[in-house]
Amino acid sequence: MKILITGSKGQLGNTLCELLKAQKNSLGSIPEIYKGCEVTAVDVDTLDITDKTATDKSISKLKPELIINCAAMTNVDGCETDRDLAEAVNALGPENLAIAAEKVKAKLVHVSTDYVFRGDATVPYVETDECDPVTAYGASKRNGEIKVMASCKKHFIFRTSWLYGLVGNNFVKTIRRFAKERGALTVVNDQRGNPTNCEDLAYHILLAAKTENYGIYHCTGTGECTWFDFAKKIVEFSGIPCTVDPCTTEQSNRPAKRPAYSSLDNRHLRETVGDGMREWTVALKEYIEQLELAEKA
Ligand SMILES: NC(=O)c1ccc[n+]([C@@H]2O[C@H](COP(=O)([O-])OP(=O)(O)OC[C@H]3O[C@@H](n4cnc5c(N)ncnc54)[C@H](OP(=O)(O)O)[C@@H]3O)[C@@H](O)[C@H]2O)c1
Repeated sequence: MKILITGSKGQLGNTLCELLKAQKNSLGSIPEIYKGCEVTAVDVDTLDITDKTATDKSISKLKPELIINCAAMTNVDGCETDRDLAEAVNALGPENLAIAAEKVKAKLVHVSTDYVFRGDATVPYVETDECDPVTAYGASKRNGEIKVMASCKKHFIFRTSWLYGLVGNNFVKTIRRFAKERGALTVVNDQRGNPTNCEDLAYHILLAAKTENYGIYHCTGTGECTWFDFAKKIVEFSGIPCTVDPCTTEQSNRPAKRPAYSSLDNRHLRETVGDGMREWTVALKEYIEQLELAEKA
């Protein structure tokens, strides 16, 4: 099987490439169908998905059976200030991939976000809930979803949240660094969501992508928390002496308005390939152990 992974140097792209190489992770072995697969991994330096002609050429030539789009502009505050770039990378790029995928009859997995929702719910969002993004990032990602659904029949849209992986930067790494440097932190306690380990997401993407159960999936770690709860666990599992105090969103003063409640219900996963996403604290503990091993090596 030929697989194309775009945005392969990012957190999720890198995890997927490693998982396809190892054929297993802590969740288990990936389906047999991926054995001996030929993976082509590209990032913006080798395939800029905003370049329609290059995207079309490269997919027509490779003729992959499966494309997994992990390329994105993920800097939420940056998207507010450069809306055109956000739209190009998060909406037009996925559309280019979808059109090219449809031509060669490939399946396309496109990754999206909890930020497509308004964020004022009180119970977890299901896949069919109305989207109403409040940030430029969320709006560009929602446009990407719409374009993918319109242009490629064999699409899977995986919405995830609060993602962390071994390469690149994320909240876990930032909190660990600040905790070591400062010994005291203040973190927002009025935004709730689901921390998600890239390993768990990558594994479930591969489970779903082998089926023909197309459509939108929510795929996040089990259980919800606030950024404050998340930070406290990071500090605790890292054994760093540091106090963590709660604050409000108003006090945190970020350019882009974050959704207050963006917890997702993995309903479609449960109804199809099964929801084996680990409890967020379990997946986080393992991740911190892996980070520490990598730091020692
Ligand atoms: N991170 C989160 O907390 C989070 C939460 C919810 C959903 N998601 C979604 O999950 C997916 C994966 O996120 P991630 O955290 O793995 O992202 P990431 O680490 O930021 O990786 C994205 C990759 O895409 C590359 N890229 C940027 N512009 C590109 C272009 N025009 N063409 C090709 N590649 C390009 C980036 O390169 P540069 O680094 O050089 O720009 C980077 O290597 C994204 O769709 C994201 O929206 C992420």
